[in-house]
Amino acid sequence: MSINDLSENAQSVAPLTLDDLHVAFGGNRVLEGVNIKFAPGFNGLIGPNGAGKTTIFNVLSGYVDASSGKALLGDKDLAKLKQTGRVRNGICRTFQSPKLILDATVMENVLLGMHTSFKRGHASELFRLPAQKKEETLAREKCMDMLEEFGLAEDAHKETGDLSLGSQKIVEVCRALVGDPKVLLLDEPAAGLGADDVTILLKGLRRIVEDTDLCLVIIEHDLELVTTMCPIIYVLHFGRIISEGTPEEITSDPVVIEAYLGSGYAEGGSDGQGEPDAV
Ligand SMILES: Nc1ncnc2c1ncn2[C@@H]1O[C@H](COP(=O)(O)OP(=O)(O)OP(=O)(O)O)[C@@H](O)[C@H]1O
Ligand SMILES: [Mg+2]
Repeated sequence: MSINDLSENAQSVAPLTLDDLHVAFGGNRVLEGVNIKFAPGFNGLIGPNGAGKTTIFNVLSGYVDASSGKALLGDKDLAKLKQTGRVRNGICRTFQSPKLILDATVMENVLLGMHTSFKRGHASELFRLPAQKKEETLAREKCMDMLEEFGLAEDAHKETGDLSLGSQKIVEVCRALVGDPKVLLLDEPAAGLGADDVTILLKGLRRIVEDTDLCLVIIEHDLELVTTMCPIIYVLHFGRIISEGTPEEITSDPVVIEAYLGSGYAEGGSDGQGEPDAV
């Protein structure tokens, strides 16, 4: 499939669009006219440290305001929605360093991802009405299924702070997924994970992407992971997209080799043996 085919495909169905997005912190221009149409399935977002990758997620999830340009979910302008409104509309994310309640259990943390789907009100909760109990039971079952999918069922009732950093990162992914997002933004999900955890994580994500229309955007410095998982990859450098295309296209693009991958990667070949110099 050529990049033109990919772009046309993305154009007709893109659930998430960045349109001439600019972000500046004072005089520091961090994003400068970013245009991306993220498609359903896996999308990679790569680039050197400080390129502005996390800033894109911060704009999409409402932590940072764009200076100009637009971010659209379908045809909905995200600037009109607060953070919780974005979650309600289907945008969920994880963080580069997981943000979890460490003295709550794993189950309690994952349940938080379902708070927008609870239909019962405070009265129902206060008096523990049957409908509320049923809703809570179903929610716990859903969270347990998700933890099972990602190999964490046995840890469900442990304090989250007792888990390894890698497992905490997977808990965050589970918390995002139980809300049935339309868009899932994963910020360096594999950093700090052991090889076995990475395998479990990717297998679970693959299954969910196969079964749904989820649009999944992965920021990662692990190039082998990105090129294996993502049919389309965007390369950000100093706040601009310098290349986009298939794994083969971006890893052989001289501009990307110069700005990010480095000559060491080029010598290692585009088979994932080389690693970016500039991370
Ligand atoms: N809230 C903020 N206030 C001021 N500057 C910020 C803010 N957030 C990010 N920056 C700056 O914007 C630039 C891009 O940061 P960002 O975190 O988006 O990079 P990144 O591509 O995610 O890098 P990394 O790979 O290291 O995570 C950096 O120079 C950073 O210092
Ligand atoms: Mg970052």
